[in-house]
Amino acid sequence: MRSSARIVLGTALLACVPFWLAWQSSAPQLEGTWTGEQTFQRRERTITQHLEYVLRQQGAQITGVAANQNGRTGAISGTVSGDHVQIEIHDPFRPDSPGQQYQGTVHGSSLDLTFVPRPEANNSRRRFTPPPAHLQRTSTVTAYQLPANLRHPPLAPFHPLPPNGLALTPPMGWNSWNHFAGKVTDAEIRQTADRLVSSGMAAAGYIYVNIDDTWEGTRDAQGNIQSNAKFPDMKALAEYVHSKGLKLGIYSSPGPKTCAGYEGSYLHEAQDARTYAAWGVDYLKYDWCSASQVYTPDQMQAVYAKMAQALRATGRPMVFSLCEYGWQNVGQWGASVGGNLWRTTDDIQDNYASMARNGFSQNGRESAAGPGHWNDPDMLEIGNGGMSQDEYQTHMSLWAMLAAPLIAGNDLDAMTPAALSILTNRDVIAVDQDKLGRQGFRVSAQGDLEIWKRPLAGGATAVALFNRGTQPAPMTADWQALGVRANPKVRDLWAHRDVTAPGHFTVTVPAHGVVMLRAR
Ligand code: GLA
Repeated sequence: MRSSARIVLGTALLACVPFWLAWQSSAPQLEGTWTGEQTFQRRERTITQHLEYVLRQQGAQITGVAANQNGRTGAISGTVSGDHVQIEIHDPFRPDSPGQQYQGTVHGSSLDLTFVPRPEANNSRRRFTPPPAHLQRTSTVTAYQLPANLRHPPLAPFHPLPPNGLALTPPMGWNSWNHFAGKVTDAEIRQTADRLVSSGMAAAGYIYVNIDDTWEGTRDAQGNIQSNAKFPDMKALAEYVHSKGLKLGIYSSPGPKTCAGYEGSYLHEAQDARTYAAWGVDYLKYDWCSASQVYTPDQMQAVYAKMAQALRATGRPMVFSLCEYGWQNVGQWGASVGGNLWRTTDDIQDNYASMARNGFSQNGRESAAGPGHWNDPDMLEIGNGGMSQDEYQTHMSLWAMLAAPLIAGNDLDAMTPAALSILTNRDVIAVDQDKLGRQGFRVSAQGDLEIWKRPLAGGATAVALFNRGTQPAPMTADWQALGVRANPKVRDLWAHRDVTAPGHFTVTVPAHGVVMLRAR
């Protein structure tokens, strides 16, 4: 370069310096894409994950998206003041639930953040503490895009689906998760099918044998899902289950991975539905899980409708069970996306507090339930050992009052006569399976004492007196207050006897127990 040209260029660059400095001081400190790595221990494994924050800043306000190599992990909001940064990462599917809070500093292209634990009301469950995050600004991009391998074509516009004619009463059966979780194999499914028949449970109505998560293998060269080594031949297994007069259920996720980290149906929905049909599957539980990483909240309904349509296109009747933990008022739209049942709660655990939380919180959801479409407060824990006989009777009664699916989750091989007698109480099952399909509701609550009622076909009424307290207590069913005509014929469904109670019925209800009646 000639020296005069060098001088001109140098002068021009120098002239730019004040503008550049001015831009630097006014440019939002946090705009852009920040990347880093986070390493943590989970179940004795060291996991390193790529971390990406795509941030926008307006004044002191920060918004953006948190992601990792598997897609979106949260929505970011926060503030910056000087070099001090505070952010919160929310689950965009649960806008009302508290997010994860971080605070730290920004210096030039470095952002260092530390997790801020919340003072928890309930510290009984061990919570995961994310490690500090160190990020570098790696680009000025401020719009998040899914990694190339995870991008999906636009979802078809969603049209409400007509009923599929299945599950006219709440589905009844068994599912592997509550007892076997990841240990379930072909052998347990066959044995369960045998036991459902030999124990009398099948005759009482438990006909679906549902394999939950962890059956999935890899995809073959054509993208067909294969079962893993625990399930050598799904078609043969389905034939075995069918030969017992039972039906087979299976599990998947609309996301790339299931909750247990196995292969999901993402971008393979129609293909998977055809595979299930070819195997002879009769029921699909479709569990949201990692779908949050690849879809936005407004896409959830279309995502479920897509699989419902894929199942219908196979021509094989398959019950469609939505599992998205009750997010986004699923009861308002679950039926229109083809769901026969939808979870309304977090996962149940085998203890009274969890069961009571899931069950009693269903009051008010009645209008969503009816023949072909049911609220699902999760599967039964009866027989798994964590609750007393009274508590398990409460569990069974409450689910029956709620017209909830009765999906047992215990080891049928080790089932006690007591557990069997609860699960096969025909009078209580008849309430659950009542043809009218109206979900019960709470009529009164006085402290720990709750009275629930469920209108039944033919003008009968089921009444449950629940004592949620830790001491036995007298409770009264007053027919007039319950809208039951005077001098009804009353049967006590756990004592298995008729009772005479012209105006009202007073009884002592055990701690955490129930007295369940049918009046007509
Ligand atoms: C979620 C569901 C459970 C079970 C597990 C399997 O937690 O809510 O019911 O299916 O996934 O991984």
